Parts: sequence; C-alpha cells; structure tokens
Amino acid sequence: MTKLRNDTLIRALLRQPTEYTPVWLMRQAGRYLPEYNQTRARAGDFLSLCKNPNFATEVTMQPLARFSLDAAILFSDILTIPDAMGLGLYFAEGEGPRFERPLREEWEIRSLAAPDPDVHLRYVIDAVSQIRKALNNQVPLIGFSGSPFTLACYMVEGCGGTDFRQIKTMLYQRPDLLHHILDTNAQAVTAYLNAQIEAGAQAVMIFDTWGGALSQSAYLEFSLHYMTQIISGIKREHDGIRIPNIIFTKGGGLWLEKMIESQCDAIGLDWTVDIGEARRRVKDQVALQGNLDPAVLFASPETITNEVGKVLASYGQGAGHVFNLGHGISQFTPPENALVLVDAVHTLSRPYHKE
Ligand code: CP3
Repeated sequence: MTKLRNDTLIRALLRQPTEYTPVWLMRQAGRYLPEYNQTRARAGDFLSLCKNPNFATEVTMQPLARFSLDAAILFSDILTIPDAMGLGLYFAEGEGPRFERPLREEWEIRSLAAPDPDVHLRYVIDAVSQIRKALNNQVPLIGFSGSPFTLACYMVEGCGGTDFRQIKTMLYQRPDLLHHILDTNAQAVTAYLNAQIEAGAQAVMIFDTWGGALSQSAYLEFSLHYMTQIISGIKREHDGIRIPNIIFTKGGGLWLEKMIESQCDAIGLDWTVDIGEARRRVKDQVALQGNLDPAVLFASPETITNEVGKVLASYGQGAGHVFNLGHGISQFTPPENALVLVDAVHTLSRPYHKE
C-alpha cells in the first residue's frame, strides 16, 4: 500500500518530530453533525448504521470533509463485542445502550466465549477495509475497542449510567467470576484489534471509560492488568509499519506512572489533569493525547482559541502530543466551533515544533 500523505498523528504517537500538533476529536462522527443525523435516519437507527459498512464508511468520512483533522476513527461502538457474545445489545431511544441478557448467573458467565472477529464481527472488519479505501491514504485510520473492565460494566449492569452496584458487588464478593469475564473480554479485544489492524487500522485505542470508578488497587487488578495483557498480545507492526496504541482511562489521572508499565505508546487524558504536569510525570516515555474539556466548545471562538492555546502551552515544546478533547464531543456542540478548535490547534502549535 502507498504511503500516508499525512502521517503526523502516527509520528506524534511515536514521539517523533512533527511540524505541528495533530488533532482529532473523540466521537468526531456523531449527532452534532446534521449530515450524521441524516445518514442515521436513512439507516433507521444507530445499530443499523454500525452494522452496515457502507453507512459506517459514509459517517466516518463526514467530519473529515468539514475539518482538517489528522485522523479518521472507525465508526462503530465498543459494545459490538458483548453483542457478538450474544448479550443482545439494543438502544432505547434517548436512554443509551442496554443489554437484553445482562450477565448475572454463574452458568451464564462460565459459558461466555470470545467471538471470532472474522465471523461474528465481520461487519466491523469490512468497514475498516472499506474506510481505508475511501480514505485513500489521506490520514491514518484509528481502530478501537472498549477495555475489558468497561465492557464488563455494561455486560453486568446491563446498561450505562449506573452506580456500579452489580459489578462492584461481583468484584468484592466473587472476584473469580469477574476475572473470568475480564479474561474472556481481554482475549476477545486482542483478537478484535488484531483483526482491525490486519484489515487496515493504522493505530488503535482502548477506551476505559469506567476504570476511573475503581479504587487504585482494584484499577490495577481489574482494569490495567487486562489492558496490559491486550497490549502484549496485539501486533505492534503491520507490513513493516509501526501500529501505535493508546490507552484512555477516564478519571485515570492519578495512575499515569502505573499506566506506562502497560508498555502502551500513548495515554489519553481527560481534562482533570494538567497536561504539562502529566508530561513531567510520564517523563516523555509515552505520548499524551488530550485534553480540552469538551464543554469549552460551547463558548465563543475567542475562548476556544484561548483554551486551546493553554493546553498547547502547558504541553510545551517538542514532540509527543496529540490534541484531542478530554472525552467525546457533545451532541449539542455547534459544528462551527469544532472548526475553530481544529484550526486553532494547527496554527497555534507550529511554534512549539521549531527547534
Ligand atoms: O469517536 C468516534 O467518532 C467513533 C465512534 C464511537 C462511538 N462510540 C459512536 C457512538 C466510539 C469510539 C464509541 C465508543 C464508546 N461507546 C464508548 C467509549 C468512549 C466514551 O464515550 O467513553 C462508550 C462508553 C460507548 C457506549 C455507548 N455508545 C454509549 C454510552 C452511547 C450513548 C451515548 C449518548 O450520548 O447517548 C453509545 C451510542 C453512540 N456511540 C453514539 C455514537 C455516535 C450515539 C448514538 C446515536 O446516534 O444515537
């Protein structure tokens, strides 16, 4: 395959010099874009959008047509894995994801198996190949998965937005059962990310949205341990080219030193940590991705530009920063404000990359 025309993201993730700081936005294809809502209406609903590679490709490309982003991210969802495990994913209008058959009984947990991505998640793998063709090497494609612990939260609770009562009860009362789920999830995620890499994903990210709800010792044992297992099992190279990986634990700012031990290439940061302090703590051993508060995008263009400038100044001179939000872009964001952000990152970051 021919070379990427813009590989700034890949170089930044590997802490190699770049001309400016690359930027992409978590959930960059989503409901804040009117064209996304139109495609979603044509598809019928969110899951039909994910499960049809033509629609998935179309919405992946939409934000790139509007903004000069330095990466595309596969349009899919982290919950495709538990869906492929047979838990019955559905989205109740305005309520977020739910499972028809959450994991509660020991026999259900013991019969859980990692799906074969080339069979049960074929629609995702096909979407990756199709998106790579549509991108035509313009920018890299990021593949992704949920972390074993975050997936387990939805699998055991049966939905999001809970107080984690079910999963934490299992964690303290039957850690053996939770470890069985996590081990199965880690095998599933490893195979899934490797299949995405083989189909053309040029970087991969693990979303650990709920790891930050744990105590430090529980985080190490039930979340980070399994992300480390995945990192040791995924391909670091494809066709002789490095495939960098990013781990993102929302609320994980206290554990950066521990996260480095996973051998990840980059750590995603939410907005609660100062990125310059984070950089000093990780001692330039990994790249950092983040970390503007998504709520900044509700403010004026001047404020957005100013806040972007603060993140760039805090990171400071040199390589190893990928600009992003600290969490997904809100569905209520005016799209023109995302444009202000992307352009501000590109313009304001150049001085930080001169010798
Ligand atoms: O970043 C991207 O553009 C890629 C697409 C992407 C989606 N979900 C699309 C989506 C990614 C990377 C995800 C990951 C995901 N999904 C996470 C981890 C990241 C995070 O946000 O913490 C989680 C926890 C999920 C589970 C999930 N899927 C939730 C909680 C929801 C409901 C969100 C809401 O705001 O209602 C979804 C649905 C979802 N996934 C949407 C999109 C664009 C909105 C669905 C719609 O069109 O109605």
